[in-house]
Amino acid sequence: MQKLLINGKRELSGSIKISGSKNASLPILAATILCDKVKLKNVPLVKDIFTMLELLRFIGLSATIQKKNGIIQVKSNKKNIKTLAPYNLVKTMRAGVLVLGPLVAKYKKAKISLPGGCAIGTRPVNLHLFALKKLGAKIKIKNGYIVAEAKNGLYGADIKFPSISVGATENAILAAFNAKGKTILRNCAIEPEVKDLIKFLNKLGGKVLIKGRKISISGSTKNLNTTITHEIIFDRIELGTYMIAAALVGKKIILNRIDPKIVKKEIEILKKMGVRLKVNKTSIEIIKSLEIKKINIETKPYPGFPTDLQAQLMVLMIKAKGKSKIKENIFENRFMHVPELKRMGANIEIKNKTAIINGPSKLTGAEVMATDLRASVSLVLAGLVADNRTIINRIYHLERGYELLEKKLKNCKARIKRI
Ligand code: UD1
Repeated sequence: MQKLLINGKRELSGSIKISGSKNASLPILAATILCDKVKLKNVPLVKDIFTMLELLRFIGLSATIQKKNGIIQVKSNKKNIKTLAPYNLVKTMRAGVLVLGPLVAKYKKAKISLPGGCAIGTRPVNLHLFALKKLGAKIKIKNGYIVAEAKNGLYGADIKFPSISVGATENAILAAFNAKGKTILRNCAIEPEVKDLIKFLNKLGGKVLIKGRKISISGSTKNLNTTITHEIIFDRIELGTYMIAAALVGKKIILNRIDPKIVKKEIEILKKMGVRLKVNKTSIEIIKSLEIKKINIETKPYPGFPTDLQAQLMVLMIKAKGKSKIKENIFENRFMHVPELKRMGANIEIKNKTAIINGPSKLTGAEVMATDLRASVSLVLAGLVADNRTIINRIYHLERGYELLEKKLKNCKARIKRI
């Protein structure tokens, strides 16, 4: 099994081009079930995307990738469609459940494996099913599968989510888009990735509007028979990860191809921590930090601070003077990186949903491993700032979501390699 080897304490400089967003690409790929021909640009070529393409091909769509420029083309064959998402594909990537909405909407039925729990929590799909039922689907759980049917198609409805979920909002939008009549969804997730999905759907001739946390959908069922082209938004979590890397070990790092307006919260928090950054129109420049200050934060749905950057920010807190706190409000089990960071020398206590980080601590390299994507990348950040050598195991987690991680860091002079 491959590992990453990092020799830390090397000052980084250079520029990094931020990739397209994995979490925006996945629901848009699920949306291609509703289309004839789609051309997607700026798709990050990471494991989760390949798994989603495998699922689309299993369903009966044809999908091709131009690896050189991240272009994916998907065509609907219309014939031989299987309305099934099998366990082996959904278990490795929970976003597989996003094909539920489009399949039921277009083909009036779907059988989707329940994704089960994962390292960061139980991750139920009750909110996805709640919305589909309100749109008229009959749903049963049988042998570990969601079996959904809407014999007469789906109908628009007025739905208020009891709590905010990114995936359930996306699944509901996708289902409602092909339903008869207008749907209003309330208490929605309004992450930039949800907005990118809406931007894509509006190119198909429908009308999806967003106002606060309310989304109204007047869908489109017509086949356009032209190719819909869409460029995926940049990956704000990848940007945040490299902003933190730059704050930890950067001399001068420029992060390109981004829109700073989307990461206002992250910029505000890093500035409060004393990180010196210059915000340009499509890039952010980070200059060597003089002193990192403590801070208390909570993870929240967008526009709050993202749970997907919590583990990475914790590494910066280890270098801050004083007691910092992180309250994790989104997932119940998302401090899996803490024992590994402690093995590297961090002083962190966990009390219920809150991690208390006593800094600054000196980190020293160790052999470590993590059980999810963002926890794994936090160990890469720790390795970059630690003395000596860090070996990261189970790097397949990183491959799920970070495009060209080693290359991007190596280009900035990091001493990192795969063994
Ligand atoms: C998406 C992101 C993930 C991110 C998360 C929160 C993708 C592919 N993944 O995941 O990287 O960490 O948003 O920003 O975009 N919940 C329920 N019932 C449901 C659905 C969710 O109780 O039916 C709960 C979850 O357990 C969690 C919370 O709602 O506690 C938020 O989860 P959700 O926003 O749905 O996350 P995902 O869409 O799975």
